[in-house]
Parts: sequence; C-alpha cells; structure tokens
Amino acid sequence: MKTCRTLASLRRALAGFSGAGVGFVPTMGSLHEGHLSLVRASRRENERTVVSIYVNPTQFGAGEDLERYPRDLRRDAARLRREGVDVLFAPGDAEMYPAPYRTWGDVSGLDGKLCGRARPGHFRGVATVVLKLFLLVRPRRAYFGQKDAQQALIIRQMVRDLRLPLRLRVLPIVRDADGLALSSRNAFLSAEERRAALALPKALRRARERIEAGERDARALRAALRAEIARQPLLQVDYVAVARLDDLEEAAAVEPGNTLVAVAVRVGRTRLIDNVLSGEISC
Ligand code: PAJ
Repeated sequence: MKTCRTLASLRRALAGFSGAGVGFVPTMGSLHEGHLSLVRASRRENERTVVSIYVNPTQFGAGEDLERYPRDLRRDAARLRREGVDVLFAPGDAEMYPAPYRTWGDVSGLDGKLCGRARPGHFRGVATVVLKLFLLVRPRRAYFGQKDAQQALIIRQMVRDLRLPLRLRVLPIVRDADGLALSSRNAFLSAEERRAALALPKALRRARERIEAGERDARALRAALRAEIARQPLLQVDYVAVARLDDLEEAAAVEPGNTLVAVAVRVGRTRLIDNVLSGEISC
C-alpha cells in the first residue's frame, strides 16, 4: 500500500494504475468494521482501491468535536494494508484548502433538513470535500454507508446534477453485537450512556417491524419512536423523522420503497444518529 500525503504523490500513484478501474472509500479515519465493510466491497468490485483519511474541518461547526475527533493514522494505515488497499490518501489541510479558499459545493434543498438543521453548513463542507476528492481520485465506483443516509442522498444528488462519471454504492449499517451502529463517536460514551443509546436501534427495529406489518401512519411511528427514546433520560432527542427517501420531506404516510426512518440524539456531549430505510440509495 502506498500512503500519499500530497496531491503530487497521489497523482503519481494513480498514474501507476494505467487505466485500471478504481474503487474509492472516503473516510475521516478512526476506522471500524463499518468503514472496512466499504473497503471490502470496493476490493471485490474494482481492480484498485483508494481510501482517503481526512478529518475535513469545513464539515464541523463551531463548538463541534473537530479537535477531539479521534485520530490514529498509524493504526488505520496498518488495518488498510491488511485489507489489501492499494493507496491511502491522507492529505493535510493546506493541500485540500489552499488559502484563500473560496469555492464550495452546495446541494440545495436536501442540506437543511434532518441533520442539516442542527448542523448548519455541515453538508456544504461534506459535498465540497467529497467533490474535491472525486476530482482528484476519479473513481469508477465510490462507497458510502447508509449510516449517514442523508449524506449519501446529498452525494447522489451531486453525482446526478454534475453528471459525475461514477457509480455510487451505499452499503448497509454495520452494528455491534448489541445493535448499536458502529461509529467513531461511540468511543466517547460511558458504559451507562452506551446502554441508554441502545434505545435507538431498538426503537428503529420496532418501527421497521411495524412498517413490515402494514403500518402506514407516519405520525404514529414518530410518536412511538419519541416515546421509546424518551424512556431513557440520558438521551435528548434532536430529531425523529419518517421522511420520503427521494426528497427528505416528512411523510404523512409511509411509502414502501421510499421511506427513511431516522433519529438523532444527544448523549452528554456526543451526538448519535441511526436509521432504517425502505428503498435504495445506490445509483
Ligand atoms: P466517516 O464518518 O469516517 O465515514 C466514512 C464512511 O463510512 C461514510 O460513508 C459512512 O456512512 C460510513 N460508515 C460509518 N459508520 C458506518 C457503519 N456503522 N456501517 C456502515 N458504514 C458506516 O462520513 C464521513 O466520514 C465524512 O463525512 C466523509 C464522507 C469522509 C467526508 O468528509
């Protein structure tokens, strides 16, 4: 595996691929089995795999956890090498955002909803860095997790709007044995907070079962989700959404194949998200 810290060295590494199809997995590091599931899919489906690790400052708001975001490049690189990754791209801020920096990617409409409400500017930072990474790596396929469903939907919109020549593959949420969705931020939870956080996967699983059993009343589903989460005093609800997958508008009725059930909570200083969906984001 070649580790590239600069654009010049990334270009040299890509030139060595001589036209082979590239699968690309953008990450912020602190890698867990969720990230590795994307890496393994890319390895299966492409001749070459490039992974980026970059804690993108422009997607963190003031007062968010940019400084304390966990970073361990050496450990991450060792894991990626074991997975058979060809190139690790881990640029510095000056490579990604040369000063003065003024060009942004805005995906209007989808970015102000759900997580965008509590994190203004977050998806602008995500879309900008992902577009820049796509232009640098020029992948044939790019891999994202359903864990960040709104992010994946926004990237899909950008790929469609800009006619970017790549396929987007969105893969299922990888969970711990107890059901909690894997996240780099789980490391911040105390044992007690982690127990409380299990209300998320439990409530979402129940919502999915109700939908499968024929429930179509979105308001009833939202109320049930809120009530289950409210039973855990350590959890503060940020949002509970039963939304249409295609435009993220809150749904009145569940449409099978076009529904995202998503929740975000705060546990102490940590924000957790989880979802279940009926439908497909890959394109
Ligand atoms: P990061 O949080 O590191 O996540 C990188 C990718 O891993 C994302 O596509 C995310 O959805 C996926 N992922 C995270 N947890 C997962 C889980 N439990 N199961 C499956 N996939 C999971 O998302 C970002 O980084 C950044 O916003 C990025 C796209 C890299 C832009 O900076």
